[in-house]
Amino acid sequence: MSKETFDSRRFNRSKNTPFEQVLEANLSRRSILKGGVGVGAMTAFGAFGLVGCNDGSNSGTGSEATPATLNFNSIPGSLTDAVSIPEGYVAQVLVPWGTPLNALGTPWQEDGSNTSDDQRNALGMHHDGMHFFPINDSSTDGLLCINHEYIDPNALHPNGPSVSGGVRTDVDEVRKEINAHGVSVVRIQLVGETWAIVDNDPLNRRYTAGTVMDISGPMAYSQSLVTPFSPDGSQTRGTLNNCGNGYTPWGTYLTCEENWPGYFVNTDTLTEDQQRIGISTSTTRYLWETLAGSAQEQVDEFSRFNLTPSGSSATQDYRNEANGFGYIVEIDPYTANSRAVKRTAMGRFRHEGCTFGRLVEGQPVVFYSGHDSRFEYLYKFVSAQPWDAADEKPSNRLSIGDKYLDNGTLYVARFNDDNSGTWLPLTLDSQTIEGGVLADTFASLADIILNTAGAADLLGATPMDRPEWCSVDPFTGTAYLTLTNNTQRTTDTNAANPRLNNKFGHVIRWDEGDSVSEFSWDIFVFGSAADEEQNVNISGLTELNQFASPDGLSFDKRGILWIQTDNGADEVTQYTNDQMLAVVPSTMADSDGNAETVNANNQADLRRFFVGPNGCEVTGFTISPDYTSLFVNIQHPGNWPYSEDATQQTPQGVSVRPRAATVVIRREDGGEIGV
Ligand code: FEO
Ligand code: CA
Ligand code: CA
Ligand code: CA
Repeated sequence: MSKETFDSRRFNRSKNTPFEQVLEANLSRRSILKGGVGVGAMTAFGAFGLVGCNDGSNSGTGSEATPATLNFNSIPGSLTDAVSIPEGYVAQVLVPWGTPLNALGTPWQEDGSNTSDDQRNALGMHHDGMHFFPINDSSTDGLLCINHEYIDPNALHPNGPSVSGGVRTDVDEVRKEINAHGVSVVRIQLVGETWAIVDNDPLNRRYTAGTVMDISGPMAYSQSLVTPFSPDGSQTRGTLNNCGNGYTPWGTYLTCEENWPGYFVNTDTLTEDQQRIGISTSTTRYLWETLAGSAQEQVDEFSRFNLTPSGSSATQDYRNEANGFGYIVEIDPYTANSRAVKRTAMGRFRHEGCTFGRLVEGQPVVFYSGHDSRFEYLYKFVSAQPWDAADEKPSNRLSIGDKYLDNGTLYVARFNDDNSGTWLPLTLDSQTIEGGVLADTFASLADIILNTAGAADLLGATPMDRPEWCSVDPFTGTAYLTLTNNTQRTTDTNAANPRLNNKFGHVIRWDEGDSVSEFSWDIFVFGSAADEEQNVNISGLTELNQFASPDGLSFDKRGILWIQTDNGADEVTQYTNDQMLAVVPSTMADSDGNAETVNANNQADLRRFFVGPNGCEVTGFTISPDYTSLFVNIQHPGNWPYSEDATQQTPQGVSVRPRAATVVIRREDGGEIGV
């Protein structure tokens, strides 16, 4: 979630804090630990490099022969209403909030007067995760899928939201807000030196917080999903708070439902899963449910956000509505009118992102996803079906999704203090720390999924400092995860989350072990302001790479890791706005060839590439297959964009209606980005 909407309550009340602080041991242990895993991969990336994994294209296979070498100078921080990029680069604003997708709506109006119908046919608000899906492998023609995490009601409406006595008073305003959420699919092309939307392309479309979606996997047709709208529990309406994203090896988009609990209320007694995930008993973020019963309400469009039981059964009220949220949602961008599918086997929590691991023919497909809340967990889903490379170019992509994403095993991570790790299966026969099995508490796999985090508590998973995005190194197969911050960690550090009052965050990484339940891990880099003490600035960062609250995280296929921030730590915000840094971890090895973490000797390899405008968060990453166009999203800017040139500052004294937007970065000479 964004720092703007972060819910600071602690929902995990379990006592899973079994480890002492062992930071010193952790820092010295990687070379031993990685001896048989990461280092092998490091020094033999000729062999591993041909095994594709999470790359910058959508094919999911293949990577370059050797990792890239960065060839730009780290840029200074910036505190302006403009984006900053290295010399020799240009940056263009593309598809800002409100850009029409077709001819059905009125063009975006500077006064905020567009209607809910306009919004349903236009780009949503607060762009977040995204992915470029090339058409015919092109680097100049493709589909951009963009998440719209949440809204700024003050910017969305001419004079902010209409509320009287805690009740919303304008039906079209609330519909507009619902339509500003979700996902956009938009066809874009490079014409000359400029990217532009293809107006009226038949693939342009929106999935909003009201679009009908299918439920698949263990929760499909369960009693927990029965609503008046879907009496058989097979469907739900809309996707909410779409934050990080993923994509699949078979060419589909994955959008992740993160901070969805804030949209629902239950004024009666909370169910166990509602309590664990943090549903409110008093209010919702935007008060949509307060228009329930309005004369203009259609098909319970507002009532459904109120979970309070009022009827005699689940077909009489919306007690189960929230059970249709908290999932990874699969979208086939290439097929117009295709329905989005909620893949419930991958767990139900505040999903930040979803990233597939190294693909090996004949082995299961693995996806990682973090639960972004304080003291929450990291999860891995392992498909029941082994990977078949013939599935890479399917004719029916969603049927391939059925094959790999509906059946499998979900695991949660325990980070042991000796830098080993254990994946704990969320299955009925899985052993709990109390000596029983999950079947003592849960009647079915669907019940486990419904309260994924509650089940994970019983297994002794490690509470983390807010797991955000994850990405996998195409050369080593090592997975990286951002832990953005956790200022409520006042006691109970553990080896994987070793700093008290962790306001700067860190990036952890792991290699899968010999069995599906084993992994080994270490901490790649610690965020910090440059002038912090050595026990805080553990990675030896300087002014040219100091950062806090790492959030977005993406490898491209050349092995460059792009780290994006959503920072609220004053020590860094006074120096720079949110930013994106680059580093090539697979080239960082000590003289013995052991994988290195970022430290005082090599920290210059971590370089600041991009700084966003005032007030924004930098999030979402994708790159064209030829690496000449890099796309990032600017979410909730304060007073930007002023023009199509993203680097042009909004002049002093001028106020613009702020618009989240995609920024496309290219080199003036048209060459590859970053190298
Ligand atoms: Fe929506 Fe956890 O960032
Ligand atoms: Ca995020
Ligand atoms: Ca964040
Ligand atoms: Ca965000």
